[in-house]
Amino acid sequence: MILPIYLYGHPVLRAISQPVTPDYPELEKLIENMKETMYESDGIGIAAPQVGVSIRLVYIDVDVLGDDMPELKDRRMVLINPEVTVLEDGPVTNREEGCLSVPGIHESVKRIEKINLKWQDEKWEEHEEVIEGFLARVVQHECDHLDGKVFIDHISPIRKQLNRAKINNILKGNVRCGYRTRGFKPLKKK
Ligand code: NI
Repeated sequence: MILPIYLYGHPVLRAISQPVTPDYPELEKLIENMKETMYESDGIGIAAPQVGVSIRLVYIDVDVLGDDMPELKDRRMVLINPEVTVLEDGPVTNREEGCLSVPGIHESVKRIEKINLKWQDEKWEEHEEVIEGFLARVVQHECDHLDGKVFIDHISPIRKQLNRAKINNILKGNVRCGYRTRGFKPLKKK
């Protein structure tokens, strides 16, 4: 089932998400719905708060970028309770990011693209891996959502100011994009 994407300005995107336990009801179904919702909106990552569920769950599929970055080929991950440690010896890179919850805005964000990631998969198996490059950026972007952060929190006040009109429209739920959204105060249906 395709779920609406919650927009920037909705309090669920500012909440600290709860850890997931194996008895979480219908977790499999939620994961399937998040996948379907992400593919429908052409995303490469989605965090549970973006569909209004405040739990520590992320889905990433960067396979589509595999032609340009072969290391991303077939890279699909369900991250349950991910723990990111940024490895300070990594280079800082500046790359453009976007977010399904912040439609129409693309801005460069500086990140250290080298992390240690611990997580559980959908079978509750434990994983730990050092991840570098673009995937490390995607993981950080998605895991930020679990701590109530969005990528535009990382941009400069000037860049934020330049996007003010767009941000205000998103806050009003006044967006046009190719997928269903939910703002904090949805527009009245005509
Ligand atoms: Ni995002």
